[in-house]
Amino acid sequence: MKQIIIALGCLIYVGNAAATSVGEYMARASDCVACHTAQGGQPMAGGKKFSTPVGDIYATNITPDKTAGIGNYSYEDFEKAVRQGIAKDGHALYPAMPYPSYAKMTDADIHSLYDYFMKEVPPSDVKNKDNDIPWLLSARWPLHVWNWLYVDKTQPETKAIQPDDKNAILLSRGAYLVEGPGHCGACHTPRGVTMQEKGYDASSDVYLSGAMIDGWYAPSLRDITMPSEELKDLLRMGRSQHSAISGPMSEVVTQSTQYLTDSDLDAISYYLLNFNHRNPTPVATDGSIVYSPTDGKILYSMYCSTCHGDDGKGKDFTVPSLANNSVVTAKDPSSLISVINQGAETPQTQGNISFKMPAYKEIMSADEMTNVVNYVRGTWGNGAPQVKKDDVANMEDAAK
Ligand code: HEC
Ligand code: HEC
Ligand code: HEC
Repeated sequence: MKQIIIALGCLIYVGNAAATSVGEYMARASDCVACHTAQGGQPMAGGKKFSTPVGDIYATNITPDKTAGIGNYSYEDFEKAVRQGIAKDGHALYPAMPYPSYAKMTDADIHSLYDYFMKEVPPSDVKNKDNDIPWLLSARWPLHVWNWLYVDKTQPETKAIQPDDKNAILLSRGAYLVEGPGHCGACHTPRGVTMQEKGYDASSDVYLSGAMIDGWYAPSLRDITMPSEELKDLLRMGRSQHSAISGPMSEVVTQSTQYLTDSDLDAISYYLLNFNHRNPTPVATDGSIVYSPTDGKILYSMYCSTCHGDDGKGKDFTVPSLANNSVVTAKDPSSLISVINQGAETPQTQGNISFKMPAYKEIMSADEMTNVVNYVRGTWGNGAPQVKKDDVANMEDAAK
């Protein structure tokens, strides 16, 4: 009897270890769930709202339910939606769905995604919401033009890589994950007038050069200076020895990158650290600033130093260092101001609890906030340009 139980235990264990199919893994790497799930809703059943310059749109139900979801999609229908942005009935999808990035995914990965959605995702009969785009703009045909302009259907060139060229293998896998399924550019690349990203791969000078997203600044990933191990820690657990993730990036970590294998994280960090070093982010200068370094220092000691330390160095793996931190030194201070206004929390990942930073919007005036912001931007060798009180006040209003 005992033997049988042990044997059963082994079976269950093996079953669990093999539980993640390639399709599920690719769905994680592509973070489909982030957009196709409403807050508190069933995964992939849709309903999450996206505010775009032309109005609100809602992600759809992509569970295999035959009426509410995509249960009637053939593989060809699915492929057209995910890689070309065309729904089963022929209408063009809004580019909030990052199909220009998914266009780079291989046939094999799209096939495994399809199998996963059809066989493993539980169906849900939640109906799709109508989009709130004014009627004049809601005609979807101009999107076909958009499609034609920006979707590059060619997959990344698979140059003949020598099997012993470790770096070339890392670079090519990293490029695939970041530019394809990971769609990192959807937040980190600036967008042009028609909402297209200004570049979809490393051949563009502005690819991953930093952009605003929902009141946060997704910093440039073109000039990261942290060691590869720290970058991997950030993507795996949302924090590293000197840094931490916050805002919209937290969701990326909790729902996507924490599940990537160690070798895929190696590939992503190798790619990010090597794809380009030509374009350091330009630093803006500005005149009219009211900043009192003494007040800044006093406020910092009162409100921040218990956790971040007088030296700004924080505590390894718990409180991020504010010295040489990209959120603090970014040319656009939005993320820094948002963190102080709203507080922050390190993402909770497998085996890691989260650490909280309090919100200060009710506690500090705009003057005080400006002084603290400029203090941390100007101290410990940070040397970031100073911020005007108006910028801080605008962000505070937006947060209220
Ligand atoms: C950044 C947000 C985002 C991500 C990530 C995303 N989607 Fe979407 N997706 C959307 C939105 C928004 C729509 C609706 C667009 C519209 O109505 O024009 C959509 C539409 C679709 C459709 C068309 C559905 C229909 O009802 O016809 C399919 C299929 C789809 N997505 C599949 C996926 C898959 C598979 C993934 C992961 C590989 C994914 N999406 C990732 C935002 C996203
Ligand atoms: C939904 C929007 C979004 C997506 C998608 C996204 N990011 Fe981010 N990312 C952000 C924001 C906002 C920040 C700034 C907040 C922070 O640093 O915690 C950020 C910060 C980062 C940082 C920290 C930079 C630093 O110097 O400290 C790294 C590294 C990063 N992202 C990598 C990635 C990678 C790799 C991907 C694709 C797998 C990705 N991001 C996809 C929004 C996003
Ligand atoms: C109770 C401890 C605590 C206090 C007090 C505190 N912080 Fe934090 N802070 C944290 C923790 C923990 C994080 C990591 C959360 C995250 O970003 O995921 C953090 C994150 C940050 C970040 C984002 C860093 C990054 O890499 O994403 C900035 C900037 C920051 N704090 C500045 C400040 C300033 C300025 C003050 C004072 C007004 C302050 N903090 C007060 C604990 C604290």
